[in-house]
Amino acid sequence: MKIKTVLFFCFCFVLFAFQLATEKPFVVPKGWPKPTYDFSKNPLNENTIELGRTLFYEPMLSRNNIVSCASCHSQYTAFTHVDHALSHGIEDKIGTRNSPALINLAWQQFFMWDGAVNHLDVQALAPIANPVEMDENISNVVKITTLKTLPNAFLQAFGDSVVTGEHTLKALSQFMLTLVSHNSKYDSVMRKEAVFTSQENNGYLLFKKNCASCHTEPLFTNNEFKSNGLPIDTTLNDYGRFGITKNAKDSLKFKVPSLRNIEFSYPYMHDGRFKKLSEVLKHYTTGALHNQALSKELQNPIVLNANERVDIVAFLLTLTDRSFLFNPNFSYPKNLFSTQRRIKKSSASITLTNIIKNEL
Ligand code: HEC
Ligand code: HEC
Repeated sequence: MKIKTVLFFCFCFVLFAFQLATEKPFVVPKGWPKPTYDFSKNPLNENTIELGRTLFYEPMLSRNNIVSCASCHSQYTAFTHVDHALSHGIEDKIGTRNSPALINLAWQQFFMWDGAVNHLDVQALAPIANPVEMDENISNVVKITTLKTLPNAFLQAFGDSVVTGEHTLKALSQFMLTLVSHNSKYDSVMRKEAVFTSQENNGYLLFKKNCASCHTEPLFTNNEFKSNGLPIDTTLNDYGRFGITKNAKDSLKFKVPSLRNIEFSYPYMHDGRFKKLSEVLKHYTTGALHNQALSKELQNPIVLNANERVDIVAFLLTLTDRSFLFNPNFSYPKNLFSTQRRIKKSSASITLTNIIKNEL
């Protein structure tokens, strides 16, 4: 009896120690709002985050086993597509929009430039299924089980070695939720650990006056859909949020993007039309179309002379966070090199509806 009790306590201790080793509570930077993501439905765990990271860099999620999430979301450009205005996917097919930077997604309510997706856990279905991105069927993700190390990684992450669409999506979310950027010079200044130069400070004051109503601190977005007066590209004919709601009031509105790490996430806007921040500033001062669609925050023209525009750019550069861009926890996982690539057709099938019905 006594031995049994001791064994029971030992078992509980091991279980507890395992929990301690893997649990990873989400840390909200001081003074930041509460995240919108409901972590109670997908609690962060070191093993699951690592699995998500492996999947993020795994080209077998695409039909031809060449395109991974990271192909269009590269760490060194704040998880956007290096230097492509419109995204390039499978067989170099060109999409219709610029790949957004993936930063501070835990605070985001809507995903995609038009908010077509409203939950991070289903977001990855879109690029996987998109014929010009990865062109794969989520039911086929089971083909990744042929990678030697993955069933074990699923076992460690979810206590079940069966690879399911639901667990694949949840693991991807966990990795993406860890992509938090809060260590730029701007953040150090706010924490009173550094000071702005006088040019940066002047830029900050001008930014607060002209830009912060939409690009609101500390996330540098108010998470709303707005029109910033970009003339429509008549080949793409992208009306943004209107395409989702069919409400005329939403015509030409796009999700206000965060400006963190903006130095590296060029080209800019939903169609990547501007290569440089100086072009963006020129747009806001002289290029914005004053029509019905233009959001009220921009109805009074922004007047900035050449020096003031340079000052705003100097301030925007203080949003670069090198500890994010070069964080070794976000980079290509070394264990991918050791995976054995053997592709065979799998008979298992998980349907999209099942995933959504069961879990969300
Ligand atoms: C071919 C390029 C491409 C690939 C591959 C790709 N994406 Fe994307 N991603 C995009 C584009 C373009 C958008 C914006 C689409 C839109 O607005 O309609 C986007 C949007 C997103 C968003 C929404 C971000 C926001 O701020 O709204 C997330 C999250 C995301 N992708 C994650 C992923 C994941 C996870 C994968 C892998 C399963 C992936 N992407 C694969 C190009 C790609
Ligand atoms: C009415 C709200 C609003 C105001 C005010 C505003 N912006 Fe924007 N900004 C947006 C929207 C919406 C987008 C995305 C538009 C698109 O792609 O069609 C955007 C995009 C940007 C981008 C490109 C980001 C990317 O990832 O591609 C930059 C840079 C930017 N704004 C800087 C500024 C600056 C600097 C100011 C002040 C001079 C400013 N914005 C004022 C709403 C606003």
